[in-house]
Amino acid sequence: MTIKIRTGWNSSGDQALKIAEIAQACGVDAITVHPRTATQGFRGKADWSLIATIKNTVSIPVIGNGDIVRAEDVLKMQNQTGCDGVMIGRAAIGNPWIFSQVLELIRDKKVSFPDPSRRFEIMTQYLRFSVKYFGEKRAIWMMRSRLGWFVKGLRYSSRFRESIKLISTEKDALIHIEQYKKMTAS
Ligand SMILES: Cc1cc2nc3c(=O)[nH]c(=O)nc-3n(C[C@H](O)[C@H](O)[C@H](O)COP(=O)(O)O)c2cc1C
Repeated sequence: MTIKIRTGWNSSGDQALKIAEIAQACGVDAITVHPRTATQGFRGKADWSLIATIKNTVSIPVIGNGDIVRAEDVLKMQNQTGCDGVMIGRAAIGNPWIFSQVLELIRDKKVSFPDPSRRFEIMTQYLRFSVKYFGEKRAIWMMRSRLGWFVKGLRYSSRFRESIKLISTEKDALIHIEQYKKMTAS
């Protein structure tokens, strides 16, 4: 059994440390630490030094989490904290390739980036699966922000992000993706 914790109610980290010790004593197999306080939500910076503190305190595996933006950050976190594993959150939503990019880095290979046509394929698939799973109304509401995460760094991406804020059906979304795909290809 594994658990995942945050820093706690304040930034000292005392509460996380105490919980990690209790968890280990209870027989928990591994612990993931997202070092942000409850009030921080997703804002501010994750305090990676707390991951190191917990790693130095317990003997069960510690998985670090928070602010992994690109593949290189995984190695940075491991070097800085000594953690046994890394959990990737938000970065994987628009860039599901981040996992293979991390593997490339670990294997001393050059990090590869998907070509735009592959990105559009995945976006369309994500849209279709979401509609199937959540139903059109809820899925489209989610897609209004999430589709934009896939186009980071592409030409005219802010225009695309703006345009999908108004989509209300799956068909609408597909039309916008197709139009944007043509725009980036021209
Ligand atoms: C859309 C979304 C859903 C999440 N759902 C959960 C969840 O169900 N359980 C959980 O422990 N953390 C959840 N998280 C938090 C992430 O697992 C992670 O701890 C946090 O995003 C920090 O990592 P990151 O900086 O790599 O995103 C969620 C985050 C996002 C953005």
